[in-house]
Amino acid sequence: MSDDQVLLDWGSGVASLTSSGEPHRRRERSVDATGWRAMASSPDSLPDTSSEPPCDAQWWRAAVIYQVYPRSFADSDGDGVGDLPGVIAHLDHIAGLGVDAVWLSPVYRSPQRDNGYDVSDYQDIDPSFGTLADLDELIRELHRRGMRLIMDLVVNHTSDEHPWFIASRQNRTGATADWYLWRDARPGTIPGQAGAEPNNWGAAFSGSAWQWVPERGQYYLHLFSVEQPDLNWDNPEVREAIFAMMNWWLDRGVDGFRMDVINFISKDPALPDGPVDRAGYGDGTPYFVYGPQVHTHLAEMKRRVFDHRSGSYLRVGEMPGVTPEQARELTDSKHGPLNMIFQFDHVYLDQDGDKWTPRPVSVSDLRDTLAHWQLALADSGWNSLYWSNHDQPRAVSRFGNDSRYWRESATALATLLHLHRGTPYVYQGEELGMTNAPGESIDDFRDIESLHHYADAVERGEDPTVVLAALRRMSRDNARTPMQWTSGRYGGFSTTKPWIPVNPNHHWLNAAAQVRDPHSIYYYYRALIALRHQHHAVVDGEFVINETGRDQIYAFRRTAGNEAIETYVNLSDNPVSIDELEPNALVLLLGNYPESVRDTTRLAPWEARVYRRRFG
Ligand code: GLC
Repeated sequence: MSDDQVLLDWGSGVASLTSSGEPHRRRERSVDATGWRAMASSPDSLPDTSSEPPCDAQWWRAAVIYQVYPRSFADSDGDGVGDLPGVIAHLDHIAGLGVDAVWLSPVYRSPQRDNGYDVSDYQDIDPSFGTLADLDELIRELHRRGMRLIMDLVVNHTSDEHPWFIASRQNRTGATADWYLWRDARPGTIPGQAGAEPNNWGAAFSGSAWQWVPERGQYYLHLFSVEQPDLNWDNPEVREAIFAMMNWWLDRGVDGFRMDVINFISKDPALPDGPVDRAGYGDGTPYFVYGPQVHTHLAEMKRRVFDHRSGSYLRVGEMPGVTPEQARELTDSKHGPLNMIFQFDHVYLDQDGDKWTPRPVSVSDLRDTLAHWQLALADSGWNSLYWSNHDQPRAVSRFGNDSRYWRESATALATLLHLHRGTPYVYQGEELGMTNAPGESIDDFRDIESLHHYADAVERGEDPTVVLAALRRMSRDNARTPMQWTSGRYGGFSTTKPWIPVNPNHHWLNAAAQVRDPHSIYYYYRALIALRHQHHAVVDGEFVINETGRDQIYAFRRTAGNEAIETYVNLSDNPVSIDELEPNALVLLLGNYPESVRDTTRLAPWEARVYRRRFG
């Protein structure tokens, strides 16, 4: 078998891959009959690469990135909370997928009001997760396996327990007095009373976006919770402090940053009122989603933090509400300050105005939205590709069918995403097809956004059972239940009761079971990731929609040079007939149904196939 004729007929049970085809990849993987093993080609001869990952300019274009939410990944010390040693202990599970990098959600010191997205010390590790020495070991262990570490960077806001904020709230004259967005009460009102807020904006986690501080006699802005005050990025001292901190992490050996809500850092200085929404607050998004200085600040960050370095670091920005035009400008390979962004259009499709109000999504909505982004960034810019992360419900429950077609729909959705142009992200547990949590009562929820929404909605008079149903569908806790390692107690996540309940389906849905099963979703992900590493057209090929005339099918072609890869996915519970897929011209690279049921004129429910077109 030649190197590019990969062993990817997952449907017929072959579970053996090599990823040595790419010159820059140092790893070789093999899978034995009972499971998988990940190994460096010659572990002993590898240098200590703690600050020297394999370096290729733009490595991230051909990469797949795995997200770890450390609180829910693996608990090594039996306190019910995941931690860094737990991540280190499971690195072979991640490496076994063949991914290139890990994005680690925040592990900085934090009061954990928003599970670490409220940082009180950017240069230390929260004791619940471990120590700086653990982080250094994680970097070393990842690099030793040929993977990189991408840290989360949460700098739109800090925690209200950050020393910068503690000093800032005390008076208007101290060193950090102007580091946050302080404003006086609205003229003609009584400060501290309802209606006296500087503008009408609501916060993302319910209530007003302003908090009155009597000591200082002013309000501060918090776009998220009251414990997450927004930093004043227009103050050069704030930027200086953030850039110094970023440089400190890069010097320590990390390989880039995933930048939390980074398009919110610049606000229209007038902070005008916004149109009033259902909950009675003004929508401030037009004034902070892509504020006047965002591009300038990010360009300065690039100059001050990255440009003087010889390595190739990843800069990925989380950007709710960004437009394709803005994304193109931000990620243009010559002039853009970022390498890629996370856009939200496809994960907003099932929401009617706000995330708690459902709206049905059709296959054509999904196809049009994803294809629109593919085409918009075809000539310049770069996409991030994702279904899931720690803020989104589980993809198989949301867009697939997590009961009758659980395995088929999880693999169909994965196929579709991974064959697009851009960098795919796999969120922990997605590679097992983890599903939404049962969430039987409000006591099962932990997320600040969910708990605030429930309290507010019930207080407004909404029916608690209806509010709970919305949480079951959309709560971020769906993604945060513990990683399901085994069928044992607490899913093998911890030896003690975890901070959030384990999904009871861990009895059958767990990593150990999937590693034993060559037809598992886990191995399918590995096959998909190998496809990207072995076929240039999957990385850089032009994207063209294949019109099949069937609403339930999403089909497209990726072409580069004389290689064309065609993907067909049936996104429905019903079989769909199609024009004959020319058996002589198309070579099947990957399929999620066994060969025995494969038909050239029909796709089974949630069937996905990836073909290479033979030329000549
Ligand atoms: C981002 C994070 C989310 C967090 C919010 C505030 O959207 O992904 O988890 O709550 O920003 O930091």
